[in-house]
Amino acid sequence: MKDLKNRVLITSALIYANGPVHIGHLVENTQTDIYVRFLKLNGHDAFYCGAEDTHGAPIEIAAAKQGVTPEQFIDRWVKEHEEDYRRYHIDYDSYYTTNSPENQYYTELIFKRLVDAGHIYTKEIELTYCEHCKRYLPDRYVKGTCPKCGAKDQYGDVCERCNATYSTTDLVEPYCSICGSTPIRKPSRHYFFRLNDFSDKLRAWLNGNKNLQPEIRNQILSWVDQGLQDWCISRDGPYFGFKIPGEESKYFYVWLDAPIGYIASTANYCRGKPFTADDIWQKPDSTIIHVIGKDIIYFHLLFWPAVLMGSGFHVPDNVVVHGFLNVNGGKMSKSRGTFLTASEFADLLDPELLRYYYAANLGHTMTDIDLDLKTLQDKVNNELVSNIANLVYRTLSFLDKNFDSTVTTTLNKELLADVAKKAEGVRDSYYDLNFREAVAKTLEISTVGNRYFQENRPWELVKTDRERTQRVLTDCVNIVKTVAVLMKPITPVFAAKVEEQLGLPALKWADVDRVVENHRIAGAKIILRKIDPIVLKKPVEKIEEPKKVGKDPAAINLRVAEVVEVRDHPQADKLYVLKIDLGTEQRQLCAGLKPYYPEKADLLGKHLVVVTNLKPAKLRGELSQGMLLAADNGKEVGVLNAPASRPGTQVTVEGAAGYSMAEITIEELQSFKLEAKGGKPYLEGKVLRTPEGEVAIDRVSDGKIR
Ligand code: 2FM
Ligand code: ZN
Repeated sequence: MKDLKNRVLITSALIYANGPVHIGHLVENTQTDIYVRFLKLNGHDAFYCGAEDTHGAPIEIAAAKQGVTPEQFIDRWVKEHEEDYRRYHIDYDSYYTTNSPENQYYTELIFKRLVDAGHIYTKEIELTYCEHCKRYLPDRYVKGTCPKCGAKDQYGDVCERCNATYSTTDLVEPYCSICGSTPIRKPSRHYFFRLNDFSDKLRAWLNGNKNLQPEIRNQILSWVDQGLQDWCISRDGPYFGFKIPGEESKYFYVWLDAPIGYIASTANYCRGKPFTADDIWQKPDSTIIHVIGKDIIYFHLLFWPAVLMGSGFHVPDNVVVHGFLNVNGGKMSKSRGTFLTASEFADLLDPELLRYYYAANLGHTMTDIDLDLKTLQDKVNNELVSNIANLVYRTLSFLDKNFDSTVTTTLNKELLADVAKKAEGVRDSYYDLNFREAVAKTLEISTVGNRYFQENRPWELVKTDRERTQRVLTDCVNIVKTVAVLMKPITPVFAAKVEEQLGLPALKWADVDRVVENHRIAGAKIILRKIDPIVLKKPVEKIEEPKKVGKDPAAINLRVAEVVEVRDHPQADKLYVLKIDLGTEQRQLCAGLKPYYPEKADLLGKHLVVVTNLKPAKLRGELSQGMLLAADNGKEVGVLNAPASRPGTQVTVEGAAGYSMAEITIEELQSFKLEAKGGKPYLEGKVLRTPEGEVAIDRVSDGKIR
């Protein structure tokens, strides 16, 4: 888009402060950064604002699990994110946080205006509540059986098997994924935003905004036509976020205050400047552009513009949507080793080369990008190194050797005019956010330069006509300078090195038209060399879900299981084969209990405690999927049991949460301290319990548990 106002604010989506920057995020950051650098080079007053997305239940729960405050938790990620952006030359003009006074101010202001204008109402709804954890459970923290297809262990919002969407209260046999106990339904009063009231205005905005990608406009219009649901913008505590004014334990939903973080970051940028965030966001004379991924278009093209419309703020002038990143033809995957963090990738390759690859693949469409490592190597070697860097080095080194690094006057005005014309085309492509085309056109110019050098055979010409040779090289220097300008948004470090070797101060886009003559260059050095194949490290199996071994009791997933069948092991005198019910599934276990429980009826119906994430094993030909816990004092053996708890209930220890689903081995299990003291079972010194009370032990008071 070219119709930009005086000031141009550009944003990338805010990363959650609970995980690393990965190479998928970098597509967006690179796209935005290139665009902002390009606009600045062209003299626009453009600024790139971003922030950490710090609020929400996952961050509050993760912090609690680590025993730190949410503020401490997010701080750690902020530092890491900032370092990653620095390495990839992502040059934010303001990098801020949604957990800031400015964000609170704007969130409350917008909310108040929406309330005053009648766009908000409250209504009581039924939610899923865990009485053990004493919290309402967000979608991802309640699991159960899909109400549509019956698949077990599905999240509270969508079934991964049949894709059905539903509410947490629709789940069959739900359980709290934090503690495993069965939640209840509990009513709660919540705040709703009347999204549907904005249907006409949204339609008008979508149809009138010529900057939006047509496929996006059509997608959103079809949603509007299907009818919009009102949007719940509040959450019950405990929650990390801003309290709703006048409420005891209700907070603004993270997706309300997250985009307002764009405004807060603008305010941070404006500090000490002659204009304010209100000038940008509450007056029409700036341009606001968001860059986002296609997974969050609902938030940015429906909720967000409607909230801004309803509160008298400036609605975005453009929302640029990119596709997802695939690696080597498939979704990024930890198990295939293709899920790479920014810092892991920077250890494999100069980050600027990834910027180049992304630019060379980014059009102004939602098409997914494939990061194919072989193609990346070829592109870097054949385009960046053999074409562009080669033109730079052969030109400057020839001047070094033969002309004491000086240029005289240009010779081929027609050629240079053609280059300038082509550079205009590059500029148009950048304005259109079609970086793939900008790269292709820049390569054409560089090819023209290489061909010109080659056809004039300066290494021969210099023997017969030094003056003409020097003028040919002057032409080449001018092409090098132009190529450096065109590459600046994408490869700023490479371009800066070329500028330095050319002996020129930081170039602007206007320098495309400037002719460099009678000038001494600073000298030639090789800037880029061909790269070797990029080899991904073999994935370590445990990346998918890190096993927590050692002393974190959450690594052992203990649940209550009812014994539904007992039979003798056909091959072993002392073993029973038990069938147990875990609420959501039945399993088979082998246990050496026969000498201690000779009557099968004494075990039948008992609610035992079972390690559910132990690697399955075969004991003398019979499958054993887990292990029941029993205490042993050398004479007697008694099983741990929780008679009052239903099958499937999570057995917990104080201070641990989020019990691991990752498999552990018997050796790992044995490395934990499990013991009976005074008739109570302890894991790593903490008593085992269920929401219904402490776990009991038959017969044995003190001893080992195994
Ligand atoms: O989807 C996400 O990762 C969100 N953190 C994006 C927020 S963008 C904006 F709305 F703040
Ligand atoms: Zn719970």
